[in-house]
Amino acid sequence: MTTDPQPVAPAGPLAPPQPPASQPSPPPAPARDPFAWIDEHAATRRRAGLVRTLRPRTVDARVVDLAGNDYLGLTRHPEVTRAAADAALSWGAGSTGSRLVTGTTGLHAELEGELAGFSGFEAALVFASGYAANLAAVTALSAPGGLIVSDTGNHASLIDGCRLARAATEVVAHRDPDAVRKALAGHDGPAVVVTDSVFSVDGDAAPLARHAEVCRTAGAALLIDDAHGFGVLGEGGRGAAHAAGLAGAPDVVCTVTLSKALGSQGGAVLGPARVVEHLVNAARTFIFDTGLAPAAAAGALAALRVLRREPQRAGRAAAVARELYDRLGAAGLDAVAPDACVLSVLAPDSRAAVRWAADCRAAGLAVACFRPPSVPDGISRLRLTARADLTGDEIARAVETIVRAAPPEAFRTPPTGGR
Ligand SMILES: Cc1ncc(COP(=O)(O)O)c(C=O)c1O
Repeated sequence: MTTDPQPVAPAGPLAPPQPPASQPSPPPAPARDPFAWIDEHAATRRRAGLVRTLRPRTVDARVVDLAGNDYLGLTRHPEVTRAAADAALSWGAGSTGSRLVTGTTGLHAELEGELAGFSGFEAALVFASGYAANLAAVTALSAPGGLIVSDTGNHASLIDGCRLARAATEVVAHRDPDAVRKALAGHDGPAVVVTDSVFSVDGDAAPLARHAEVCRTAGAALLIDDAHGFGVLGEGGRGAAHAAGLAGAPDVVCTVTLSKALGSQGGAVLGPARVVEHLVNAARTFIFDTGLAPAAAAGALAALRVLRREPQRAGRAAAVARELYDRLGAAGLDAVAPDACVLSVLAPDSRAAVRWAADCRAAGLAVACFRPPSVPDGISRLRLTARADLTGDEIARAVETIVRAAPPEAFRTPPTGGR
C-alpha cells in the first residue's frame, strides 16, 4: 500500500517558526436573513403537497421504466455505449471549451452533417442541451422590435427563450392556427411562431402544416421544438417537420434534443444554412457555453446510425404508446390520446398523483408525476413514456400496476376488468 507523501518541514535552526493554525472566526450575522423568503416558499409548497424530491437511480434497478425518455431503447445499445466510451478515451471526459474555442471536434462536425442529412434540413448546429438549443433559437431568431407568437402549452425552455428575447411575446391558445393568424395580423415586422411539435405534458401534437401555412401568408418564421417527435414521427423517425412536409423549408427552423430518442445528451438546431451561420455568430448559449462532451456527441451519432439502419424502432415506440393508451382507457382511466411516445393519465389531485406514482414505483414500475406548476392547466397526472423495446409482458404488467394502484376517483368509467 502506498500513502501520499506528507509535507515535511525543513529541520534545523533555519526552519522558520510555524504560526499556530488559525481558526476562521464565524462571519458576523447578517442584518436580515436573506433566505427567509425561501423558507416561506418551502412551507407553502409543503402545504400544497408540491415538494419535489430527487430519487437517485441504481444501475441495476429491476424496474419497468415508463418515466425516462429513452424512446427507442438506445441509451444502453452496445454500439451507442461503445462509441461514447471510445470518444471519452480518445478525447477526454469533456470538450474543454466553448464550440468556437476548443469545444468542436470532428465528432461534432460529423454529427451535425448527419443530423441535417437525416432530418432533411440544410444545416445543423449542436448544443450542450436541448434547453440551450431552444434558448438559442428563440432569442437569436427574434429581431429587436419583432414579435414572438408562442403556444400556451410550450416547453419551459421555449418560454424562457421568449423571456430572454428582445421582442414582444404573444401567448396564444393551444394548437390554434387561427389564434396564431390573429396574433400575426396585428403586427408589421419580423415575427416568429414558436411551438412544440409534440407537447411534453399531454403528448398531443401541434397542427404544424396549418401553422406553416399561416406563417407563410404572414411572412413569419416557424420554429418547431421537435424534442418528442424526432426519432419517433415521420418516415423512419425523421421527425415531425419531415412528417408535415416542412423539412428543408426556407422559413422553418427545428430544434431537437439528443437526450430522448437518441439516448444521449445535447441538443441541435436544424434549419437553413444562413440561420445556422447566424446562430454561430449570435446565439449566446452557443458562444458562451462549453461544447457538448465528445462522448455525448459520439453516443448520439451512433444512435442516429442505429436508427437509420433500424427505422422500424420509430413506429414501434409510437405503437407501444397507443397500446398503453388503449389498455388504460379500457380499464376506465382518463388518458390523453398520444400522438407520439408521451402519454398523460389524469389524476384527481396532486397528492393522489404523488401517492399513485409512489405505489407504482413500489411495485417496480417507474412513472413520472407531473403537478402544478409544471402543468399548464393545473391538472396533476401520471406521465408515461413508451419505449420501442418494451416487451408485451412488460406492457401488460405496467398497465396492471397502474390500474391496481389508481385512486378510485381516477376512473372515468367503471373498470371493465378486475382491479
Ligand atoms: C419539449 C422539450 N423541449 C426541450 C427540452 C430540453 O431538452 P434537454 O433535456 O436536452 O435540455 C425538453 C426536455 O425535457 C422537452 O421536453
